[in-house]
Amino acid sequence: ERTILQGISAKDVGKELFFRARIHHLRKLSSHLVFFVFRQQTVTIQGVLHEHDNISRWMMYWAEHRNVEDVVLVKGVVQEAKSKQGEVTGATIHDVEISVHEMHVEASVTEPLPFTVAEAEITQQEVDREQDTRVKVSDRTRWQNRVLDLRTSAAQGIFRVQSGIGHLFREYLDTQGFIEIHTPKLQGGATESGASVFKIDYFGRGAFLAQSPQLAKQMSIAADFKKVYEIGAVFRAENSNTHRHLTEYTGLDLEMAIDEHYHEVLRTLDNTFKYIFAGIYKKYRNEIDAVKKQFPHEDLVWLDETPRIPFKEAVQMLNETGWTDEHGKPLPLNEDLGTRDEIQLGRVIKEKYGTDYYILDKFPTSARPFYTMPDPNDPEYTNSFDIFLRGQEILSGGQRIHDTKTLLCKMERMKVDPMSMEEYINGFQWGAPPHGGGGIGLERMLMLLLQLGDIRHGSMYPRDPKSLPA
Ligand code: ATP
Ligand code: AMO
Repeated sequence: ERTILQGISAKDVGKELFFRARIHHLRKLSSHLVFFVFRQQTVTIQGVLHEHDNISRWMMYWAEHRNVEDVVLVKGVVQEAKSKQGEVTGATIHDVEISVHEMHVEASVTEPLPFTVAEAEITQQEVDREQDTRVKVSDRTRWQNRVLDLRTSAAQGIFRVQSGIGHLFREYLDTQGFIEIHTPKLQGGATESGASVFKIDYFGRGAFLAQSPQLAKQMSIAADFKKVYEIGAVFRAENSNTHRHLTEYTGLDLEMAIDEHYHEVLRTLDNTFKYIFAGIYKKYRNEIDAVKKQFPHEDLVWLDETPRIPFKEAVQMLNETGWTDEHGKPLPLNEDLGTRDEIQLGRVIKEKYGTDYYILDKFPTSARPFYTMPDPNDPEYTNSFDIFLRGQEILSGGQRIHDTKTLLCKMERMKVDPMSMEEYINGFQWGAPPHGGGGIGLERMLMLLLQLGDIRHGSMYPRDPKSLPA
């Protein structure tokens, strides 16, 4: 039986272990003594190889020439840490170490490494310390060598949390009577805005990669599925070289029929988020702590009662603090906010309500796509909302127009061609109940939850306008 190193402690002293690990670090102290740090995902522990009766000089010689990142099988015995060496190398388990008796290489590194995992884990604080002469590996170098970068304990934590978000999203919505659907990523037309769509050749005719499952999820409501969700790829041909845009990301989308009011959708989304947050902090404490070593941040703060602030009031609140646009003017109440304004608003809301998580409701019409339901009391605004985490958008959603005439009018006004959406329009012509929904960007949410600073850290193989590996 192979040992999982997580949880090995002083109680295991004297126990014989047999395990697979990577060589995280290797140091020859003398021809009689070699120190290893072995790594299993986020766990590291020191190993000591000592020349004595059963360990020959040849074995010592062989061992000291292994490569960092080799995959090894190790037999050894747990002993109290004799030196502070484990602490020095930052091993996650450092009160005990392993006296190595046997070692076998299962997979060897055959090409020079662009950096070691230990080097990639050097933090900015360590670099800032004057006596430390090591250099931090740049993000770009890390992303260019992603497989190696993904072995860092931070990345091991990030993608376990990512998996947890998807799992909790499904788990909660399943209990609420939703069904999971899978909609086509090959589309005949653009769905969100024509400018940001990838055009492809589809047997000689033009087609597009889906910019969101928007039309298909609405059609499922017209088809009487009542409550649906999807986790799937979303493609955006935005030439946005920002910290928060990818050209391919993962959408967590839902759509549901409404009984009385579109706030039913908002309540479902809000409860889904709270279920996810609570589940993540309960199940992934070790992973989050591993992430924090490299991306220091505070746990997310959210309230039982999520503040739901009308867009107009939020902008007024921001203007009252003296915040202005780049020309020194107060921000207009009927236009979308820029990223800089949103982040500042996040600070103002944190101060006033003490939360990192909140809803802005009733967005201005000018900022929303054609399918958005206008506010029946004020055509300048809509029955739509965004949800924010630490001052940045993680979800857009709202009520949709379900009346064909209104929809066609709106499409015409916003220059959206109904010819490319025949199947969608049919759904409304044959009667669709009132409905609404929303879409979360998974990597965006992960970046903001764990304060990763750049969305690429939240995507296993990030796609942005500049990166498309051969
Ligand atoms: P959505 O798809 O709903 O728009 P989003 O979060 O990507 O979601 P955008 O509408 O694209 O948001 O833009 C919202 C904010 O992002 C705007 O405030 C805009 O200033 C900023 N933004 C978008 N593209 C860029 C870019 N290329 N560079 C800098 N900021 C950008
Ligand atoms: P929207 O276009 O706002 O809405 O997208 C929904 C959410 O997806 C994320 N997101 C992105 N993440 C990474 N890279 C991008 N380029 C990117 N663009 C958007 C954001 C955003 O909040 N159909 C609607 C949703 C709906 O109304 O149901 C839509 O796609 O987190």
